Amino acid sequence: MTAATYQYVDLPDASVVTTRALLTARENITDTVAARAMMCIHGGAGFGKTLAVNTCLRELEPGEDVRKITFRPRPTARAVRYELFTALDLAGEPPRHPSEFDRLLKTALAERPRTFLVDEAQWLNGEAFEYFRYLWDEPSTQLAIIFVGGEGCHTVLRREPMLSSRIFIWQHFTRLTPSEVLEAIPLFHPIWADATPTTSPSPTATPHTATSAPGPS
Ligand SMILES: Nc1ncnc2c1ncn2[C@@H]1O[C@H](COP(=O)(O)OP(=O)(O)OP(=O)(O)O)[C@@H](O)[C@H]1O
Ligand SMILES: [Mg+2]
Repeated sequence: MTAATYQYVDLPDASVVTTRALLTARENITDTVAARAMMCIHGGAGFGKTLAVNTCLRELEPGEDVRKITFRPRPTARAVRYELFTALDLAGEPPRHPSEFDRLLKTALAERPRTFLVDEAQWLNGEAFEYFRYLWDEPSTQLAIIFVGGEGCHTVLRREPMLSSRIFIWQHFTRLTPSEVLEAIPLFHPIWADATPTTSPSPTATPHTATSAPGPS
């Protein structure tokens, strides 16, 4: 998938804009993966977290084995095991007993270094986060984990001292500033390439307005 087509909206010719947050995410993700560490990217809805993380992780592939995992609300440790089984493309039937399941996952994760992208992590409760910590702490696994989610993700993670003390980098996504909106809009779509700041959207526009431009007409 090219950067230009990696948009959830079907907007021909739209591009990924290298915002300040995206640049910081690139550095943070590269450092986290190199250190086989865990990081947390959090911030408001539509601020560009998912797009930034996917863009940066794609740049690390195929050298890095990246697995994306998205959960339904409040999954149990059992549901986490099943999602990981699927995300890792493991063959056969998932084991019935938790200890057997844990052994299988740990063996698979010991095979080679991997990166988990856990998006919508605000849905995870303490039990689910704890299961990731358990796998990450296992000496034979070589895991990097990137938790991405709304503000709730930060709150839940902070409540779990065993996990939050192990988070290598916290990155908070914030709204684009008015001057960032003016810089981003001409880069986002050719229709605005020659726009001057006076003809650009209002500097008070939200990031959502800034990045959900109407299609060329
Ligand atoms: N750097 C960027 N360049 C171009 N478009 C962007 C950029 N960041 C975000 N967008 C646009 O904004 C939309 C919303 O971004 P994204 O889905 O990454 O937000 P999010 O922070 O993950 O939101 P949520 O918390 O709801 O999951 C994207 O689908 C994309 O169209
Ligand atoms: Mg998202």
